[in-house]
Amino acid sequence: MPSISCSAPGKIILCGEHAVVYGSAAIALPIFQVSTVTKIFAKPIAPSGDVHIVAPPISLDNSLSSLSIQNPLRATIELVMEELHIDHIPACEIRIQTSLPLSAGMGSSASVTVSLVRALSTYLGHPFENSVINQIAFEIEKLHHGSPSGIDNSVITYETPILFQHGSGIQILKIARSFSLVIADTGIKSSTAAAVSGVRNRWEANKILYEKLFDEIGQLTLHIKEVLERGTLEAIGPALTRNHEFLQHIGVSSKELDQLVDAALDSGALGAKLSGGGLGGNMIALVADENAVEVARSLKGKGASRTIITSIPATTGGISE
Ligand code: PMV
Repeated sequence: MPSISCSAPGKIILCGEHAVVYGSAAIALPIFQVSTVTKIFAKPIAPSGDVHIVAPPISLDNSLSSLSIQNPLRATIELVMEELHIDHIPACEIRIQTSLPLSAGMGSSASVTVSLVRALSTYLGHPFENSVINQIAFEIEKLHHGSPSGIDNSVITYETPILFQHGSGIQILKIARSFSLVIADTGIKSSTAAAVSGVRNRWEANKILYEKLFDEIGQLTLHIKEVLERGTLEAIGPALTRNHEFLQHIGVSSKELDQLVDAALDSGALGAKLSGGGLGGNMIALVADENAVEVARSLKGKGASRTIITSIPATTGGISE
C-alpha cells in the first residue's frame, strides 16, 4: 500500500510560446487526460536515508545516492530537504509513472517535478503550498531547459488556465465558454532547450525583426485572452493559425507540424498551431465539439502518433500570486 500518492497534469500552450521567454504574454492550459503520479512507500525497517527511486519512463531504478548531483530528480529532492531544513529522509521507495509523452511540449519535466515535490513534502509531514512547489519546479526547469520562462511549472502547479507574463505574475484566466481542442503528437521528440536556444541565436542575429515578431505574438495572445473572457470563441481560431505562422517565421515549426496543422484546417478545425517548444512534439486544433472526432481521425490519417480530444471548461478567473 502506498504511503502517499500525488499527481500532476500535463499542459499545452494555447498561444504565445517562445515570445514569452522575451517578456510577452502567453496562455497555458492544464491537460488532465495525461498525468504523472508519484507514489512513496515507506520502508520502516530500512536505515534512514535509504531512498530508492523507480521511474520506468526513463528506465531508472537506482538509489538516490547513486544519482549525480545534477540529476533533476536528485536536485528536486535536495531542494525539498533544503526547504524543510532536514539532511536526510526516512527510508522509502519513490515510484514515478507518467502518461505524458516525453520531450513533446506537454510539460513532462514540470509534471514530474510538481508531483514529486507534492508527494515528498506530504510524505515528510509538511505538504508545501503551491507557491513553494512552483518555485522549486522553476529551479528544476532551469536544469532541464536552460532559460525557461516559468510558464510550464506555473500552469502545472496551479492546474488552471493561466495568462503568464514576466513581471506581471500569474493571472488565472477567465474563460466564459468551454471549448474543445484536439491535441496531436507528431511522434517526433524535440528538445525545448534546443528550440529556445535556436530562437535566441536568431534573435541575437536580428533583434529588430525578432522583437517585432515577439511583439506581434504577444498582441495576439492579449486578443485571445479578451476573446476567451467574452466567449466569442469563433474569433480565436484565425488568431491561433496566425500564431502558428509567426512560429514558422521564428523557425520552430517542422514539416510534420505544418502537415498536421494543414490537415486539421482542411478537416474543419477553426484554427491550429504547434504547441510548446516546437521542432516536433505536439500541435493543437480548436474545433467545434461536433467536429472533434473527425479532425482527430484526419490527424491520425496524416501520421499523428497520438491524438487527445479535450474540453477546456469555463472558469471564473482571478489572481493567483
Ligand atoms: O516545454 P515546452 O516545449 O512546452 O516549451 C515551453 C514554452 C517555451 O516558450 C518554448 C519555453 C518557455 O520556457 O516558455
